[in-house]
This record gives sequence, structure tokens and C-alpha cells, in this order.
Amino acid sequence: MKRIYLSPPHVGELERRLLLAAFDSNWIAPVGPDLDAFEREFAEDVGVPHAVALSSGTAALHLALLVLGVGRGDRVITSTLTFAATANAITYVGAIPVFVDVSRDTWTIDPDLLNEELESCARSGARVAAVVTVDLYGQCADYDRIEAVCRRYGVPIIEDAAEALGATYHGRSAGTFGVCAAFSFNGNKIITTSGGGMLASHNGDLVERVRHLSTQARRHAPHYQHDEVGFNYGLSNLLAALGRGQLQTLPDKLTRRRLVNQSYRVAFAELPGIALMPEAPYGRSNCWLTCIIVEPPLFGVSREQIRRHLEHRNIESRPVWKPMHLQPAFEHCDKRGGAVAEELFEKALCLPSGSSLTDDEQDRVIAAIEECRALAGTLERMVAR
Ligand SMILES: Cc1ncc(COP(=O)(O)O)c(C=O)c1O
Repeated sequence: MKRIYLSPPHVGELERRLLLAAFDSNWIAPVGPDLDAFEREFAEDVGVPHAVALSSGTAALHLALLVLGVGRGDRVITSTLTFAATANAITYVGAIPVFVDVSRDTWTIDPDLLNEELESCARSGARVAAVVTVDLYGQCADYDRIEAVCRRYGVPIIEDAAEALGATYHGRSAGTFGVCAAFSFNGNKIITTSGGGMLASHNGDLVERVRHLSTQARRHAPHYQHDEVGFNYGLSNLLAALGRGQLQTLPDKLTRRRLVNQSYRVAFAELPGIALMPEAPYGRSNCWLTCIIVEPPLFGVSREQIRRHLEHRNIESRPVWKPMHLQPAFEHCDKRGGAVAEELFEKALCLPSGSSLTDDEQDRVIAAIEECRALAGTLERMVAR
């Protein structure tokens, strides 16, 4: 049976045409008209005046921290429930990540715990240089509350919107909060350039400074003048052409991902012990990945047993991110709370959610999960075979 993937790239004729046109134009370079156009069109779509295309979302986070002046010994607070790139970028500038638990009803950073952590740092005199919020699985963090807390302590916000292109918070697009935002176009994201990212901001000077650093900090001079240490973090013109095509299809992709989420919601409504990641009333998720939470006593089998059974049926699924405070690379870092993220890690599973997932494929996923329940007693033996 054909394998069903979690979130495979979804590209079509339009992207192929734009990519080949860029190729034929010989703009096979780290600059070019598609790159300029991609940045412009992306910024317009998100609703920010400025954007710079980069080689990855991680690069965007790294440069965001650098241009905010975050450095050695500074503390940077972020959600513990995230992909490692968020925490990795914090360490690239020599700063120390501090992990805060998520709210059970949004799976994004808990604003009350964030407040407690900022208060405790203020009391002890520890400098918090930034807060990196994470719009998890396409759901925005609770920005009204987070901004109020951060304002109180004078700490800037960087929005990690890597997973959230197209999501909204009170009608406002993900990627418009904080000082700047990072997006990812990794192959598994809602739109992809195979690998790539974007830094978006309301602040034009900040974006130009990121652009400068991302292109080896090269000043205009015939001999190449470098007044500081830079990075080779730009996106290529070819990949930008692919990105432009993907961006045009974003509205369809959003509709499809939300429909996939809705179909899972309907299918599992009557299944005891299975619930979907809650959608916060303050926004609209882009439903990048649909996640379920499994209560073994009610459903009959555990999250891990479901995952293994899906694998047995050639269906890819994945536990939610392992909390950063449990990762060997970061377990020495400070944390506040963590029990909610730990419980989600134990009980929650990301299901195939791609915009190219067909109805038949989704039926196969749903049927396999229903099978788990029916087979509750014999499943251990089946997957052990
Ligand atoms: C929350 C989060 N932050 C950052 C990244 C890093 O993006 P990239 O893979 O483009 O470096 C990703 C995804 O890959 C992510 O999911």
C-alpha cells in the first residue's frame, strides 16, 4: 500500500514553470528578480512592509536574535514545546534558553508562567534579552496577553512563525507580532522552497540589517568590504521562483489543511479517548499539522501503540515535539513548569495533514485509528510481529 506522509511537499505545474523560467533566465544566483518579487509578494501577503528571504527559518531566528543585540550570557525565554531550531538559534548567539510550559488550551507559551518567569528574573537581576514565542502547529500564541507581559518588563518579542504562515490572531496574520518574525519553507511546511525561510518585520532598518548580515556583511566596494562578520544565509533566486509559485497557491493549501482538520474532527467526535488539539477562540490556525490527544484508559490503546499501528499500515505519524527541557542538549537549562508539555509529549500524535492528502488517504488514516480501538486487546501482538 502506498505510504502516506505527514506533510509532504505539494507543488504543481505553476511552480515548475516559474522555476524553469528562472533557470532559463540564468539568474542562478543568490540575487535576482524572483528573489526581489518573492520578498515583496510575501510581505504583502502577511501584511508587513518588509521581508528578507533566507536559507532557513533557523537562519531567520539566528539573525533576529543577533540584530536585537542578544549575546553571551543573556537569557532568552521560549516555549518548551517547540522544534529544536528555536532553542538552537538562542545558543548560536551565546544566550541561555529558559523554557516555559504551554497552556493546555492552546499548546503555546503560557502567559501566566511567562509573567512569573519575567518577574523572577527581574527580582534576581538576570537580564532577559528576548522572548521567542512559537505559533505551534499553526496556532498563534496569545499575543494580547504576551505583549502586555513583555511590555511590563521591557522585553522584545521575536515571533517564531515557522509553522504558522496563513494563521491569524484576532484577524491579524501570524508573523506580524513582536519586533520581527521567522518563517520556514522547509519541505514539510505549508508552502516550501525545499529549504528556505523569511524574516518579516515592520521595521525596515532591522530587515536591511538582517539582509546585510545574511550576505556576508559585504559593503558596496569593488574589492568587497566587510565591516563585521557576516553569514551566507541568503535564499537563491531559483528557490525564490519556486516560493513565488507556492505563495500563489497558499489560499488553496490553507483551505485544504483546514478541511483535513475538520474531517478528522468529525471522524473522531464519537471516539472516546481521542480529542484534537484545541483551536483557541482568538484565532484561526493554518492547521499545518492536525494533532490528536489519546487517553489510553478511554480509547483502549496508547499514543505509541497507535503510532506503531499506523506505521504498520504504512502511514507516517509523529509524536508532538519532545519538550526542550527533556532534550539532552537542553536539560541543563532553567525551566518554569513543564508538566503540560510532558503530558502532551506522552499522549499527543501528529497525523498526516498535507494539502495533497486525498479523501481516500485520509479515510485510510481514520480507518487505521479506528482499527486500533477494535484491536485494543490484540494490538500488542500485531505490532510485535
Ligand atoms: C517551530 C519551528 N521553528 C523553527 C523551525 C526551523 O525552520 P527551518 O527548518 O526552515 O530552519 C521550524 C521548522 O523546521 C519549526 O517548526
